[in-house]
Amino acid sequence: MKINSDFLNLKDNYLFAKVGEKTAAYRKAHPERRVIRLSIGDVTRPLAPVAIEAMHRAVDDLSRKETFKGYGPDRYCYAYESLLESIKGSYARKGVSLSSDEIFVSDGAKSDLGNLLDIFAKDNTVLVPDPVYPVYVDTNVMAGRRILYAAANEENGFLPMPDGAEADIIYLCSPNNPTGAAYTKKQLAAWVEYAKARDAVILYDAAYEAFVTDDSLARSIYQTEGAKDCAIEICSFSKTAGFTGVRCGYTVVPKALVREGTSLNRLWARRQSTKFNGVSYVSQMGAAAVFSEEGERQIAENIAYYRENARIICDTLDKLHIAHTGGKNSPYVWMKCPGGKDSWAFFDELLENADIVGTPGSGFGKNGEGYFRLTAFGTREDTLEACERLRKYLGD
Ligand code: MLT
Repeated sequence: MKINSDFLNLKDNYLFAKVGEKTAAYRKAHPERRVIRLSIGDVTRPLAPVAIEAMHRAVDDLSRKETFKGYGPDRYCYAYESLLESIKGSYARKGVSLSSDEIFVSDGAKSDLGNLLDIFAKDNTVLVPDPVYPVYVDTNVMAGRRILYAAANEENGFLPMPDGAEADIIYLCSPNNPTGAAYTKKQLAAWVEYAKARDAVILYDAAYEAFVTDDSLARSIYQTEGAKDCAIEICSFSKTAGFTGVRCGYTVVPKALVREGTSLNRLWARRQSTKFNGVSYVSQMGAAAVFSEEGERQIAENIAYYRENARIICDTLDKLHIAHTGGKNSPYVWMKCPGGKDSWAFFDELLENADIVGTPGSGFGKNGEGYFRLTAFGTREDTLEACERLRKYLGD
């Protein structure tokens, strides 16, 4: 028996596991203090009423033999047509037309971002923005793939553009986690052109697209001409509709995406029908309701609430003269650590002096060193209280 020794090349802990461990140790040592968590992007608003009602109805369906459901329909890898129709409707509102068999319902973006690698050969080279969501790097380290990095920094507005790197698989995340920077449709066109010229494939993480307000920014890579020939898009109801605990997402693999004479859509369908048994009926019904007219209105209210939290955080940092980006088309605020401190040193300092947990920028990559991420997904009360503590601790 041999283990997959590529795992030994991983850092000891997944970023948010390390943040969680440090937080738990601090809480244990200081049970009297009220710690405010603005670290992992976990939602705090209750689900939209339409989703709750749809899930109640789905549970009732399961209680009657006439309407009981077992496995989902195998025609679309266990996705129910009502959910596929509502996802197609949401894309149509962005000007993108999809067919049902191009959409794969998942239990969230994180799983698919890792699982998709099954359909790509090990000797592909991947290009990953730095800093970025650590799952892209970790899953490729596990698979022993060669990784190149595209530096995202102040000079390029945290939006790296193609620079001729010899990559076969390109990860893009827009609006970006952690920096909050988002590509314009024009910038994405340059990535699409580059990917097509190299026969590469873009894995486009659109988990935060619902936070885009500016019309020049893309909400889907398929809003860019030619993207269906070179991009897979990974989406989630987690941040859009507060489904972090419910679990439901979707991945689009266009039928036009063909490499080496093989349809990637077919490969992914084959992979999913073998290794995955679908998302629960109850979750799927809740998700389908979210993209109804009333559902869209209700989730917009929750997103507006988080956006206001982001504005409050940005205002506080402005008053403290701390440089920051994000928070406008994104739920994340990316701030520079005051006094040139390194990310983990600032994490410890903020925890010990203000009882606030954030996420150290260096956990997202080398270029994140010296930065710190705060999330707007907290409650309003916690956000206001955290800002008050920041003012007290970091103010003059
Ligand atoms: C984050 O905080 O970066 C995200 O919540 C992590 C995730 O979505 O898995």
